[in-house]
Amino acid sequence: MIDPSLDFRINAERFREDFDILSQIGATPEGGVHRPSFSESHLEARAWLRQRILEDGLSFRSDGAGNYSAFLECGPQNSPTLLLGSHLDSVISGGRFDGALGVTAALEVLRTVKEVDRRLPVNLEAIDFTDEEGTLVGLLGSRALAGLLKQKEFQSPRGGREELQNGLARARLSEQDLFDAQRNAASLAGYLELHIEQGPRLQKAGMTIGVVTAIVGICSYRLSFIGRADHSGTTPMTERLDAALGASSFILGVRQTILEEFPDCVANVGALNLSPGAFNIVPERADLSLEFRSSDSSSYQRLEEVLIQLARTKAQDYGLRLEIEFLGKHFPTPMSSIAQQAIVQAADALGLAHTPLVSGAGHDAQSLAEMCPAGMIFVPSEGGASHSPREFTRWEDCVNGANVLLGAALRMAEIVGGRRTWKE
Ligand code: GLV
Ligand code: MN
Ligand code: MN
Repeated sequence: MIDPSLDFRINAERFREDFDILSQIGATPEGGVHRPSFSESHLEARAWLRQRILEDGLSFRSDGAGNYSAFLECGPQNSPTLLLGSHLDSVISGGRFDGALGVTAALEVLRTVKEVDRRLPVNLEAIDFTDEEGTLVGLLGSRALAGLLKQKEFQSPRGGREELQNGLARARLSEQDLFDAQRNAASLAGYLELHIEQGPRLQKAGMTIGVVTAIVGICSYRLSFIGRADHSGTTPMTERLDAALGASSFILGVRQTILEEFPDCVANVGALNLSPGAFNIVPERADLSLEFRSSDSSSYQRLEEVLIQLARTKAQDYGLRLEIEFLGKHFPTPMSSIAQQAIVQAADALGLAHTPLVSGAGHDAQSLAEMCPAGMIFVPSEGGASHSPREFTRWEDCVNGANVLLGAALRMAEIVGGRRTWKE
């Protein structure tokens, strides 16, 4: 067993240099980044990553889902791989830290291990997963790797079919290629991801490190309330079939339902489109995006039934027709106790205050948890802001997180190391 006290650290300046370069790719005037999956800026960020990997003397790899990796052969021949990673794509007009922190930290860990020439029982890989944010599909690269993709989900993805096809074409990938990214569980020793918390709990508690115990389930639907287009000046108020009324009433009802009946869940209607969309036409159609989340499997399932019934009731109340399109569902996922233990030990060895946390955001770790021990390290988000240019984490916290990632990776390597099968 390796000496559990970490006798070396990541190179904080080198890590910062990478992070700052990435922050400029797709930079927005508000101080964030705009790098939706397979956009020009996202592809540029990936081209930079590839170049950096090669300059660092690491092996570059990519797969059918467009995941980009740095590979360090620091283990015995044919030993399993411990994956470290996150994502370089962002939400529309997002922040600089979400995903980018985990990718640059993973790369820095590989460089550090290479520099000190440490041999481990496993190989190391730093991976940038494709489309984590779901501007196209969601957790696309990690689910491809874990063999969880289904052909039918490409018919009506969250970001639209045409956008998906155009994006894949820009990245020179095809729908069929995506399935080639699947890996054998025996080839993986585990997965660790450093990420910002994206909420206020660590900062409020005065804690430096969050040890993620579980990731919420996330379910999404497209709902369409359909009425009738009419003249807005001549149609009596009582005779309208106004799709906007059904949608608005539903949105308010969702909030009320959560507050009154599901305090451990959250829901969001993040997009709403009225058509034809004119001052003087009663809206015929209201298309909305519904997403809800919970870490508790039974509330999650019950909430789905309740919200769909609520939409039906509201449509009926306003004389509308309802179209329901199920877009996808990720189940609440516990993180591996082996990974949590490795993270706690690494934080303790560095003298950093840590606390267990459930993640309210989705992450690639939930895909990986299906096939190997997976864990996540959170660092504080100032004011809890995320998916916004206001996202900010103090650099000192980023460095602490990267050192915990290094320490936890070395520990995981020893614990899970040579094993070909995995049991908690
Ligand atoms: C991804 O960041 C998500 O939680 O939507
Ligand atoms: Mn993220
Ligand atoms: Mn995100």
